[in-house]
Amino acid sequence: MQSLLSEGNARLDWAEMHMPVLAMVRERFIKERPFSGLRVGMALHVEAKTGVLALTLKAGGAEVRLASCNPLSTDDSVVTALRSRGISVFAKKGETREEYYENLHRVLEMGPDIIIDDGGDLTTLLHTEYSDIPIMGGNEETTTGVLRLRVMEKMGVLRFPMFDVNDAKMKHLFDNRYGTGQSTVDGILSATNLSIAGKTVVVAGYGWCGKGIAMRMRGMGADVIVTEIDPVRGIEARMDGFRVMKMIDAIKEADFVITATGMKDVVRGEHIKYAKNGLILANAGHFDNEISKSDLEALAVSKRKIREYVEEYDLGDKKIYLLGDGRLINLVAGQGHPVEIMDMSFSLQALTAEYIAKNHNALENRVYSVPDSIDFRVAELKAKAMGISLDTLTEAQKRYLEEWMEGT
Ligand code: ADE
Repeated sequence: MQSLLSEGNARLDWAEMHMPVLAMVRERFIKERPFSGLRVGMALHVEAKTGVLALTLKAGGAEVRLASCNPLSTDDSVVTALRSRGISVFAKKGETREEYYENLHRVLEMGPDIIIDDGGDLTTLLHTEYSDIPIMGGNEETTTGVLRLRVMEKMGVLRFPMFDVNDAKMKHLFDNRYGTGQSTVDGILSATNLSIAGKTVVVAGYGWCGKGIAMRMRGMGADVIVTEIDPVRGIEARMDGFRVMKMIDAIKEADFVITATGMKDVVRGEHIKYAKNGLILANAGHFDNEISKSDLEALAVSKRKIREYVEEYDLGDKKIYLLGDGRLINLVAGQGHPVEIMDMSFSLQALTAEYIAKNHNALENRVYSVPDSIDFRVAELKAKAMGISLDTLTEAQKRYLEEWMEGT
C-alpha cells in the first residue's frame, strides 16, 4: 500500500503539473524572493492545490503556517507531504470544533505579517483574541468571508487592509461558476452513486456558484428549479431557462436541494415538512448553516448513517438524507475545484500577497479589490497556457477608443 507521504507527494506533483500559471509565478518568486523574512499565515482547505500555493509562497522566501478553514476538507496525505517539504501544517480530516480553533491559534501564534483566509475565521480571531498582533494585510478567498469583511469595514473595526480576491474576474467567473459547478456534481455523485438524469434539482441561490451548479446539473439531465431572493437574479435564472420558485413550492418537487447562498437557514423546518420522501439535501456554501440541522434533528424520530457522507433522518412519515453533515459537499465528499481552476484563484492569491508585501505602507484599513493589473496578468498567462490566441486592436481601432465624435 502506498504510504501517506508518497500519496501526498504524488497528489502535490499532479496538482503542480496542472497549475502552469502558478508555476510561472513560482519561477519568478524563486529569483526575486518577495517574501524574504516574512511570515504568512493561511487558513484554507488543506488539499493538494492549496499545498502548491503554500509551496509557492515558501519558494518566495516566506515562512508559512497552514491550518484548514473547514474541519472536514483536509487531505491527510497532503498534510504529511507538505510537512516533509517544510510547511508547518496544523490540520487533520475530521477535526472537532476545539481542534479546528486550536489549529487556527497555532497559525496566529507565529505572528503572521500577511494572512490568506477562506471564510473569515482567521481574520475574526485577529480582531478578537489576537487584536494586538501587528499585520501588513491579507487576502480573502470566498464570498462568505468577504461578506464578513464588508460588515467589519462598515462598522469601522477592520484593523488592517484586506483584499477581496473573490471579486477579481479571474476568481469568481471561473472558480465560483465552473469550479463549484463541477466539484459540487463530483461531491454529490461520490457521496450518493445516484443518477442526476431524470431528477428534479433545486438550486438555492443564483450567484456565480448557483449559476455554475444549475448549468452543470442541467447538463447532467436534471430538471433544475432555482430559488432566489433577488429579482435581478431571479429574472436572470428564468431567462437562462430555469423555473424560479419559492423554496416552499420548489421543495415539493425536489429530488435534490443544493444550497449555494451564503445565508443561514435557507432550508428549514417549514420547508422540510413539504419535502418528498427520499429528498437529498446538500450544501455548496462555505458554512454548514444553510440547511438547518437543528430543524432536521427536531423533526426526526431517528437517524442513521447510510453511506459515508450520507445521513438518513427518519421523520416518521418520510426519510430525508443530508450529505456531508451539511458542510460544503464539493470538498467533503468531492476533491474540491478542478486543479486548472485553482491555478487561477491561487495565482491571484500569490500575486496579491506579493502586492501587500511591497505596498503595505501605502494601504489603509479597508477592503480592496485585487489590482486590475494582477487580474489581467493572470488572464494573459492563463490564456497563453491554454493555447488561446487572441486578436489585437489595430492602431486605427485604438484611436477609435479615444474618439467621441465619430459615429457610423
Ligand atoms: N481547493 C482549495 N481551496 C478550495 C476552495 N476554496 N474551493 C474549492 N476547492 C478548493
